[in-house]
Amino acid sequence: MPLRLDFGHTSYQAAFERRDVYGVRHDPNRRAKRLLRVGVVGCGGVAQAKWLPAIRYLQTRSEPVEITGLVDPDSMTRSKVAALYGAATYAAVGELLERGAVDLILVLCPDEMHGEIARQALAVGVASLVEKPLCRRTDEARALCTLAEERGVLLASVANKRFSPPYALARALVADGALRSAPTVFSCKFTLGYPYVDLLEAGTVHVVDLALWFMGPVERVFAIGAFRDGKVESAIISLNFASGAVGAIVTSAAALSFKPWERVEIIGRNAVLVVEDQFELTLYDEETGPAKSWKPTIPNTLLFDESFGGYAGLLENVLDAIRGLAPLGTPGREGLAAVEIVAAVHESLARGEAIELGERTQGDRGDRMGRQ
Ligand SMILES: NC(=O)c1ccc[n+]([C@@H]2O[C@H](COP(=O)([O-])OP(=O)(O)OC[C@H]3O[C@@H](n4cnc5c(N)ncnc54)[C@H](O)[C@@H]3O)[C@@H](O)[C@H]2O)c1
Repeated sequence: MPLRLDFGHTSYQAAFERRDVYGVRHDPNRRAKRLLRVGVVGCGGVAQAKWLPAIRYLQTRSEPVEITGLVDPDSMTRSKVAALYGAATYAAVGELLERGAVDLILVLCPDEMHGEIARQALAVGVASLVEKPLCRRTDEARALCTLAEERGVLLASVANKRFSPPYALARALVADGALRSAPTVFSCKFTLGYPYVDLLEAGTVHVVDLALWFMGPVERVFAIGAFRDGKVESAIISLNFASGAVGAIVTSAAALSFKPWERVEIIGRNAVLVVEDQFELTLYDEETGPAKSWKPTIPNTLLFDESFGGYAGLLENVLDAIRGLAPLGTPGREGLAAVEIVAAVHESLARGEAIELGERTQGDRGDRMGRQ
């Protein structure tokens, strides 16, 4: 029953039945899974702040996963992560792949290198989980997906919000009929303050993925924009979904990052789900009755960013997909779909007209949108 999904905190069973409030006691079922060896390629901000801690988080909870190599061209970064994580380091991904003994690489280097690094791994049969955007260019992203399929190697894209409790629960509620219909409207406000991150490719792509995940394939994109120093500073993106539903994303780099940041509303028929700042989920399903809302418990003994941010859940799913224990929740083709929508937004801004995506969108496979 989806309403019982834990909200990023220790599960009810762990706290009340197993007397293991941290959820860290030996778990023989999890321990019995096949050990997988992970290489981390690009050991900068997101690797150190999110993915490496997520690996430790899973290891602490009996997941058989080990860090088999850390790759970064920067020697200071290599020394730091080697000291912290006690794994072998390499200056280039080729050195790690030559050594063998790696089941999955996490591609966490700058965007423009994602394609090249993942290609090298896929070519030698190593599964790859690639940070967003899958690639900067759609042709490169599409070629990467084709290569993975030709080689029969798993290619996953990072869409960590899907595994973050407010969005995961919203999705479960939609599947459970909480909206009383299929979603009819997707509405999102996204703001970004960091000047060094591209608004559309690096930031908005996260909520574009959510739009696709909740609503299915997009047929038509129309965008208007405001520009600063030759770059998109703000945009309003309207979407027509193949289901007949509509969507609007208001995105801006003129606002703040640390103040109200992201708001998603999914409307059904006389019912609406709202996710506020990837933190609080509210279901309004009665005109006069009470709303139902979920917020995490803050004490950090029970709440971890590795889990609440969606990183540990996403990685665990990818590991289980490699083992053949679970369907992959974030296939590479869905990373391609988000890149295609972002490209269509740029095209619409440049041409001042709507872009019909038709068969082009959803990674060329409309029926492959993940359903967990
Ligand atoms: N999922 C999210 O919420 C999220 C958050 C932040 C960043 N990201 C994405 O993660 C990626 C990395 O972002 P970041 O903020 O950590 O950047 P960063 O600049 O802090 O780190 C990138 C690292 O990659 C290394 N690198 C450069 N070339 C390399 C190569 N050829 N092989 C291996 N390593 C190489 C750099 O030395 C650096 O240490 C980007 O694609 C970014 O869009 C995703």
